[in-house]
Amino acid sequence: MKEFRSDISGFYKLSIDERQKLLSELVDLNQDDLEILSTFGYFQPAQIDNLIENVVGSYQLPLGLAFNFKINDKDFIIPMVIEEPSVVAAASNAAKMARKHGGFHSDEVKPIMISQIQITQLKDIEVAIESLKKSKELLLKIANEQDPILNKLGGGAQDIEIREIHTNKGKMLILHLLVNVLDAMGANVVNTMAEAISPKIEEICGGKIYLRIVSNLATHRLARSRATFDKEMLGGTEVVEGILNAYEFALADPYRATTHNKGIMNGIVALTLATGNDTRAIESGAHAFASISGKYSPLTKFKLDSDGNLIGEIEVPLALGIIGGMTKIHPMARLALKILNVKSASELSQVGAALGLAQNVAALRALASEGIQKGHMSLHSRNIAKLAGVPDDLIEKVSKNMIKDKKIRVDYAKEILKKINEGKNL
Ligand code: MEV
Repeated sequence: MKEFRSDISGFYKLSIDERQKLLSELVDLNQDDLEILSTFGYFQPAQIDNLIENVVGSYQLPLGLAFNFKINDKDFIIPMVIEEPSVVAAASNAAKMARKHGGFHSDEVKPIMISQIQITQLKDIEVAIESLKKSKELLLKIANEQDPILNKLGGGAQDIEIREIHTNKGKMLILHLLVNVLDAMGANVVNTMAEAISPKIEEICGGKIYLRIVSNLATHRLARSRATFDKEMLGGTEVVEGILNAYEFALADPYRATTHNKGIMNGIVALTLATGNDTRAIESGAHAFASISGKYSPLTKFKLDSDGNLIGEIEVPLALGIIGGMTKIHPMARLALKILNVKSASELSQVGAALGLAQNVAALRALASEGIQKGHMSLHSRNIAKLAGVPDDLIEKVSKNMIKDKKIRVDYAKEILKKINEGKNL
C-alpha cells in the first residue's frame, strides 16, 4: 500500500474540482462525500475560493433567531450561528424576563482600537519617551494620511499611549496608537497605520521596531449592558438565590468562571459569526479582559433589586464591525445584518453585550433549577434518533422514550424503534 503523506505542494494552484479529485485519492472519498464537498449553497465556488487558501468545500451551520430583545427601547431580532442546541431558545427566554422590566440598557461603544508598536534596543528609555510624546501630532498626521476618508468621516488616529514593559530581552517601549475605526472592526486600518508610522518612530527615538499589530484586547471599546430579570419568571426566590450562589462560585473559582464566561460567549460568538465578524478576536479579547485584574473572573455581575428581581450587568470588549472584512462579502452575514437592523458598529456591540448577558442568565437559571441537561436532551435525543435511522414520523416518540428512560443512545433508539415496529405500546 502507498504510504500516506501530507507534504503536498502546489495544492493551492489547482482548481476546486482538481483539489477535490486529488483529496478523494488521498483519503479515499466516496460519491456521497464528494457530493457534500460540492455543495456550495449560496456561494459561487469561485467566490469561496478567493476567501482562504486550499479551499475544497463550504462548511454549513444553522442560522437561528433569538426573539424578545428590547435594547435601549428598540426591538431586535438577533441572528445567531451556532451548532449547540438550546442556546437560541435560552437567549429568547431570558430576553423575555428582561423585557418585563424595560429590556436591556446598553451604553454607547466608542469604536477605538489599539495598534501596538514594539520598540526595542533603546539606549535611553526616558529620552525616547520624551521624544515620542513631543512627536505625537506628527505621528498622528502620518497615521491619518493612510486613510483620509476615515479621517474625513470623523474617525482616524486620535492619540498615543506609551508603555514600558520588562521582558527577558530587557526593557521595551510599547507604543499604542489609538484609532477611531467608526463602523469597522478596524484591524486592517490600524495595522496599516502602525506600519506607516514605524520608520518615523525609529527616526525619532532610535531603537529597533519589530511588531506592528492590532491588540485584540480592545479596552477602549468596552460594551456594557444591564437589565432586570423578573424574579417570578426566573422561577422564584429559590432560583434567584441559586443564581447569586452560582455568581459567587464564578467569582471565587476560575474553573467555574471559565464555564460561566463560555456560556456568555455562546451568545456573543454566535452573533459574531452570523454577522461575519472575527470570532477569534472577540474570544481572545473577552477572556483576556476577564483576567485583566490578575485573576480570571466572570464578565457579568449580579445583585437584587428591592423587590428581589435579578439585576445583571456585563462588561466586555467587543470589536464588532458592520463594514469591512466578511460583513458585506458573505451573503448570509449581509442578510444577518439586515435582519438585525443595526445602524452602527456601536449598536451591534450593544446588542452583543445584551445577548451575552441574556445567555448567561438563561444558563445560570437552568443550572440553579432543573439542570442544563433537560433543555439539551430533547434536541440531542432527536439527533440521536435520526442517527439511529428512526423514520421522521417516529422521531418524536423515540426521543421522548429515550428521555423518559434517561438512555439517550443510538443502540437504545434502535431498541425502542424495534419495540414500536413489533406493535408494543410505548
Ligand atoms: C454550555 O454551552 C454553557 C454552560 O455550561 C454555561 C454555564 O455553565 O454557565 C451551561
